Amino acid sequence: MISAPSTALELSKFPRHVLLEGPTPIQHLSRLSARLGGADIYVKREDLTGLGGGGNKLRKLEFLIGEALARGADTIITVGARQSNHARLTAAAAARVGLQCELVLTRTVPRSDHDYLENGNVLLDALFDARVHDLPGSANALQFAEQRADELRAQGRNVYVCPLGGSSPVGCLGYADCAAEIAAQARAQQLSFDRIVVPNGSGGMHAGLVAGFVALGIESARVAAFTVYGDAAHAHAATLDKANQTLQLIDSALRVPEEAISIDETQLGPGYGIPTDSMRAAVRLLASTEGLLLDPVYSGKAFAGLVENVRTGKYAAGQNVLFVMSGGLPGLFAYRSAF
Ligand SMILES: Cc1ncc(COP(=O)(O)O)c(C=O)c1O
Repeated sequence: MISAPSTALELSKFPRHVLLEGPTPIQHLSRLSARLGGADIYVKREDLTGLGGGGNKLRKLEFLIGEALARGADTIITVGARQSNHARLTAAAAARVGLQCELVLTRTVPRSDHDYLENGNVLLDALFDARVHDLPGSANALQFAEQRADELRAQGRNVYVCPLGGSSPVGCLGYADCAAEIAAQARAQQLSFDRIVVPNGSGGMHAGLVAGFVALGIESARVAAFTVYGDAAHAHAATLDKANQTLQLIDSALRVPEEAISIDETQLGPGYGIPTDSMRAAVRLLASTEGLLLDPVYSGKAFAGLVENVRTGKYAAGQNVLFVMSGGLPGLFAYRSAF
């Protein structure tokens, strides 16, 4: 792939508040690649984004906070699971730009130990001074967020409501931009990636990358996702829709082909946020061979899928595979009892 006709996307018409320090590095995992004896594995270090503990959501938040500020917002509300990385990074970004932040967090994941409920991302949400609304798993978080926004608006506040995972088409622009960054780095490092592997939660990172590659004229079918949230059919439909809506913002003449969205559900296990043995093994393997940390909910499961595909020869010797390491380190502390 990725000797691109162009490596630049024109996104300057969208309001943006810069939160990243610059491009995140692409690194070769030589010890792990040698240990597994198949494809060469590279990582795109999206966990190294600088604010609030880092992670993939900051790319989306550059555009979401940009839109919020352009609309004159003084408050941002978002939704997520109790240990949402997106919620934590929204709170951090809000603190950085001086917005009030409220988080509507649901107990969707069946874990009730103290670390899950209070440590990890929840600890950081409090340090960033976000107001947390603690809802049961059955609650409709977005509906609650909209009602709370109306309540605050009635008090004269200007509220921006941000969707699950920050995965609105505007948020996905952050990952379209990342596609251009990967293409530029691949060109500069004279690398060609046969596969780009990502976790798919709310689907925004996957959708944004695919939209970006289509807009750049790069073969987008090389992005391979492991769903960690819903079944493959649901994730496929939602991601295709998001990718097309994002592409529409960038270039309304182009469409994402259905076959460009590839989703594997073999690593989901019993469900969202529920640890699997292969996730645990993948987290330990990367930590012990390369000193790098995955998270238990997203990148750990997706990396387990990558390892499986190298071991079975699907990602064979002579190929280059790029894993998008999306952050989520605080989740390890919330899932202490799972390890
Ligand atoms: C650490 C981490 N990785 C991956 C994802 C998945 O990204 P997306 O929701 O855009 O699919 C998330 C989403 O919350 C995340 O927090």
